Amino acid sequence: MQIKSAEFVVSNSEVAKCPNTMIPEYAFIGRSNVGKSSLINMLTSKKSLAKTSGRPGKTQLINHFLINKNWHLVDLPGYGYARVSKKNKKYFQKFITDYFEKRKQLISAFVLVDCRHEPQPIDTAFMEYLGERQIPFSIIFTKADKLKPQALERNVEEYKQALLSDVWMEFPNYFISSASKTIGQDEILNYIEEINSNLER
Ligand code: GTP
Ligand code: MG
Repeated sequence: MQIKSAEFVVSNSEVAKCPNTMIPEYAFIGRSNVGKSSLINMLTSKKSLAKTSGRPGKTQLINHFLINKNWHLVDLPGYGYARVSKKNKKYFQKFITDYFEKRKQLISAFVLVDCRHEPQPIDTAFMEYLGERQIPFSIIFTKADKLKPQALERNVEEYKQALLSDVWMEFPNYFISSASKTIGQDEILNYIEEINSNLER
Protein backbone atom coordinates (compact mmCIF):
# COMPACT_ATOMS: atom_id res chain seq x y z
CA MET A 1 0.00 0.00 0.00
CA GLN A 2 1.17 3.46 -0.83
CA ILE A 3 0.65 6.19 1.72
CA LYS A 4 -0.82 9.13 -0.12
CA SER A 5 -1.85 11.07 2.94
CA ALA A 6 -1.46 10.79 6.71
CA GLU A 7 -3.02 13.43 8.92
CA PHE A 8 -3.44 13.89 12.62
CA VAL A 9 -7.14 13.97 13.48
CA VAL A 10 -7.64 14.28 17.22
CA SER A 11 -6.37 13.32 20.69
CA ASN A 12 -8.77 12.12 23.35
CA SER A 13 -8.70 10.97 26.93
CA GLU A 14 -12.09 9.31 26.60
CA VAL A 15 -13.18 6.64 24.18
CA ALA A 16 -16.64 8.18 23.93
CA LYS A 17 -15.13 11.30 22.37
CA CYS A 18 -13.14 9.49 19.67
CA PRO A 19 -14.28 10.07 16.05
CA ASN A 20 -17.78 8.73 15.59
CA THR A 21 -17.41 7.92 11.91
CA MET A 22 -17.35 4.23 10.97
CA ILE A 23 -13.86 4.39 9.44
CA PRO A 24 -11.99 1.13 10.15
CA GLU A 25 -9.11 1.48 12.58
CA TYR A 26 -5.96 -0.30 13.69
CA ALA A 27 -4.43 0.34 17.09
CA PHE A 28 -0.87 0.12 18.33
CA ILE A 29 -0.41 -0.98 21.90
CA GLY A 30 2.46 -2.19 24.07
CA ARG A 31 4.69 -1.14 26.90
CA SER A 32 5.88 2.42 27.15
CA ASN A 33 8.96 3.07 25.08
CA VAL A 34 8.55 -0.05 22.91
CA GLY A 35 8.30 2.17 19.84
CA LYS A 36 4.59 2.57 19.01
CA SER A 37 4.75 6.21 17.99
CA SER A 38 8.02 5.72 16.10
CA LEU A 39 6.46 2.83 14.18
CA ILE A 40 3.52 4.99 13.14
CA ASN A 41 5.94 7.59 11.82
CA MET A 42 7.93 4.95 9.97
CA LEU A 43 4.82 3.38 8.41
CA THR A 44 3.57 6.73 7.18
CA SER A 45 7.07 8.00 6.28
CA LYS A 46 6.31 11.12 8.31
CA LYS A 47 9.01 11.77 10.86
CA SER A 48 7.01 13.74 13.36
CA LEU A 49 3.42 12.70 12.82
CA ALA A 50 3.25 10.97 16.22
CA LYS A 51 5.24 12.35 19.14
CA THR A 52 8.09 10.13 20.29
CA SER A 53 10.51 10.32 23.20
CA GLY A 54 13.34 8.44 24.85
CA ARG A 55 11.48 8.90 28.11
CA PRO A 56 8.69 6.39 28.75
CA GLY A 57 5.16 7.73 29.03
CA LYS A 58 5.28 10.17 26.12
CA THR A 59 1.93 9.26 24.60
CA GLN A 60 -0.79 9.93 27.15
CA LEU A 61 -3.89 10.12 24.99
CA ILE A 62 -5.73 8.18 22.30
CA ASN A 63 -4.47 9.67 19.03
CA HIS A 64 -6.25 9.17 15.72
CA PHE A 65 -4.46 9.55 12.40
CA LEU A 66 -6.34 9.39 9.11
CA ILE A 67 -4.49 7.47 6.42
CA ASN A 68 -5.29 7.80 2.71
CA LYS A 69 -8.57 9.38 3.79
CA ASN A 70 -10.05 5.96 4.45
CA TRP A 71 -8.69 4.30 7.57
CA HIS A 72 -7.39 5.26 11.01
CA LEU A 73 -4.15 4.40 12.72
CA VAL A 74 -4.43 4.81 16.48
CA ASP A 75 -1.52 5.57 18.76
CA LEU A 76 -2.18 4.64 22.36
CA PRO A 77 -0.33 5.31 25.60
CA GLY A 78 1.89 2.50 26.77
CA TYR A 79 0.89 0.20 29.57
CA GLY A 80 3.22 -0.81 32.37
CA TYR A 81 4.02 2.75 33.20
CA ALA A 82 1.81 5.11 35.12
CA ARG A 83 2.57 8.25 36.99
CA VAL A 84 0.25 7.31 39.81
CA SER A 85 0.80 6.05 43.33
CA LYS A 86 1.48 2.36 43.72
CA LYS A 87 -1.79 1.89 45.49
CA ASN A 88 -3.82 3.19 42.57
CA LYS A 89 -1.71 1.60 39.93
CA LYS A 90 -3.77 -0.72 37.81
CA TYR A 91 -2.20 -3.25 35.54
CA PHE A 92 -3.76 -1.62 32.50
CA GLN A 93 -5.08 1.91 32.61
CA LYS A 94 -8.86 1.99 32.46
CA PHE A 95 -9.07 4.09 29.36
CA ILE A 96 -6.92 1.57 27.51
CA THR A 97 -9.25 -1.28 28.41
CA ASP A 98 -12.23 0.99 27.69
CA TYR A 99 -10.80 1.61 24.26
CA PHE A 100 -10.51 -2.09 23.46
CA GLU A 101 -13.88 -2.96 24.90
CA LYS A 102 -15.90 -0.12 23.43
CA ARG A 103 -14.35 0.89 20.18
CA LYS A 104 -16.53 -0.70 17.50
CA GLN A 105 -14.37 0.69 14.69
CA LEU A 106 -11.36 -1.33 15.83
CA ILE A 107 -10.57 -3.98 13.22
CA SER A 108 -7.31 -5.27 14.61
CA ALA A 109 -4.69 -4.44 17.21
CA PHE A 110 -0.93 -4.66 16.96
CA VAL A 111 0.81 -5.60 20.20
CA LEU A 112 4.36 -4.32 20.07
CA VAL A 113 7.13 -6.10 21.94
CA ASP A 114 10.83 -5.30 22.00
CA CYS A 115 12.61 -8.00 19.99
CA ARG A 116 15.46 -8.07 22.53
CA HIS A 117 13.38 -9.30 25.44
CA GLU A 118 11.84 -12.61 26.36
CA PRO A 119 8.06 -12.59 26.88
CA GLN A 120 7.14 -10.12 29.61
CA PRO A 121 4.19 -10.99 31.87
CA ILE A 122 2.42 -7.70 31.14
CA ASP A 123 2.56 -8.32 27.39
CA THR A 124 1.37 -11.89 27.57
CA ALA A 125 -1.37 -10.80 30.00
CA PHE A 126 -2.48 -8.20 27.51
CA MET A 127 -2.52 -10.71 24.68
CA GLU A 128 -4.62 -13.03 26.82
CA TYR A 129 -6.93 -10.15 27.61
CA LEU A 130 -7.40 -9.52 23.87
CA GLY A 131 -7.83 -13.22 23.20
CA GLU A 132 -10.55 -13.55 25.85
CA ARG A 133 -12.45 -10.70 24.23
CA GLN A 134 -11.87 -12.09 20.75
CA ILE A 135 -10.14 -8.93 19.60
CA PRO A 136 -7.89 -9.82 16.66
CA PHE A 137 -4.25 -8.88 17.05
CA SER A 138 -0.82 -9.34 15.53
CA ILE A 139 2.51 -9.10 17.32
CA ILE A 140 5.17 -6.68 16.11
CA PHE A 141 8.75 -7.27 17.25
CA THR A 142 10.24 -3.77 17.34
CA LYS A 143 13.76 -2.36 17.25
CA ALA A 144 15.05 -5.16 15.02
CA ASP A 145 18.09 -2.98 14.22
CA LYS A 146 19.32 -3.64 17.75
CA LEU A 147 19.99 -7.34 17.10
CA LYS A 148 22.03 -9.28 14.59
CA PRO A 149 19.88 -11.40 12.23
CA GLN A 150 20.70 -14.69 13.99
CA ALA A 151 19.93 -13.36 17.45
CA LEU A 152 16.71 -11.86 16.14
CA GLU A 153 15.63 -15.15 14.63
CA ARG A 154 16.48 -16.99 17.85
CA ASN A 155 14.56 -14.52 20.01
CA VAL A 156 11.46 -14.69 17.82
CA GLU A 157 11.59 -18.48 17.87
CA GLU A 158 11.95 -18.52 21.66
CA TYR A 159 9.08 -16.07 21.99
CA LYS A 160 6.92 -18.35 19.84
CA GLN A 161 7.79 -21.41 21.86
CA ALA A 162 7.09 -19.63 25.13
CA LEU A 163 3.63 -18.53 24.00
CA LEU A 164 2.80 -21.91 22.54
CA SER A 165 3.76 -23.71 25.72
CA ASP A 166 1.69 -21.26 27.74
CA VAL A 167 -1.91 -20.61 26.66
CA TRP A 168 -1.83 -20.24 22.92
CA MET A 169 -2.71 -23.02 20.51
CA GLU A 170 -1.43 -21.03 17.59
CA PHE A 171 1.15 -18.30 17.41
CA PRO A 172 -0.47 -15.05 16.25
CA ASN A 173 0.40 -13.42 12.98
CA TYR A 174 3.58 -11.44 13.52
CA PHE A 175 5.88 -8.84 11.99
CA ILE A 176 9.42 -7.66 12.55
CA SER A 177 10.08 -3.93 12.46
CA SER A 178 12.66 -1.25 12.84
CA ALA A 179 11.67 2.38 12.80
CA SER A 180 15.25 3.53 12.41
CA LYS A 181 16.10 1.15 9.54
CA THR A 182 12.63 1.08 7.97
CA ILE A 183 12.05 -2.64 8.33
CA GLY A 184 8.54 -4.08 8.15
CA GLN A 185 6.86 -1.13 6.47
CA ASP A 186 5.57 -2.95 3.37
CA GLU A 187 4.60 -6.07 5.27
CA ILE A 188 2.50 -4.23 7.84
CA LEU A 189 0.90 -1.84 5.35
CA ASN A 190 0.07 -4.62 2.91
CA TYR A 191 -1.48 -6.64 5.70
CA ILE A 192 -3.72 -3.70 6.62
CA GLU A 193 -4.55 -3.09 2.97
CA GLU A 194 -5.64 -6.66 2.51
CA ILE A 195 -7.97 -6.51 5.50
CA ASN A 196 -9.36 -3.17 4.30
CA SER A 197 -10.06 -4.55 0.84
CA ASN A 198 -11.97 -7.47 2.33
CA LEU A 199 -14.04 -5.05 4.43
CA GLU A 200 -15.04 -3.08 1.36
CA ARG A 201 -16.41 -6.07 -0.45
P1 GTP B 1 5.16 5.77 24.88
O1 GTP B 1 4.46 6.80 24.06
O2 GTP B 1 5.90 6.34 26.03
O3 GTP B 1 4.27 4.65 25.29
O4 GTP B 1 6.35 5.14 23.98
P2 GTP B 1 6.30 4.57 22.49
O5 GTP B 1 6.00 3.12 22.53
O6 GTP B 1 5.41 5.41 21.62
O7 GTP B 1 7.82 4.73 22.04
P3 GTP B 1 8.48 5.82 21.08
O8 GTP B 1 8.06 5.61 19.68
O9 GTP B 1 8.28 7.17 21.66
O10 GTP B 1 10.01 5.38 21.15
C1 GTP B 1 10.70 5.23 22.38
C2 GTP B 1 12.20 5.27 22.15
O11 GTP B 1 12.62 4.15 21.39
C3 GTP B 1 12.67 6.50 21.37
O12 GTP B 1 13.90 6.92 21.92
C4 GTP B 1 12.84 5.98 19.96
O13 GTP B 1 13.79 6.69 19.22
C5 GTP B 1 13.32 4.56 20.21
N1 GTP B 1 12.92 3.66 19.11
C6 GTP B 1 11.68 3.45 18.64
N2 GTP B 1 11.68 2.56 17.62
C7 GTP B 1 12.97 2.22 17.43
C8 GTP B 1 13.63 1.31 16.52
O14 GTP B 1 13.03 0.66 15.66
N3 GTP B 1 14.99 1.20 16.65
C9 GTP B 1 15.69 1.88 17.59
N4 GTP B 1 17.00 1.68 17.64
N5 GTP B 1 15.10 2.73 18.47
C10 GTP B 1 13.76 2.90 18.39
MG1 MG C 1 4.13 6.89 22.09
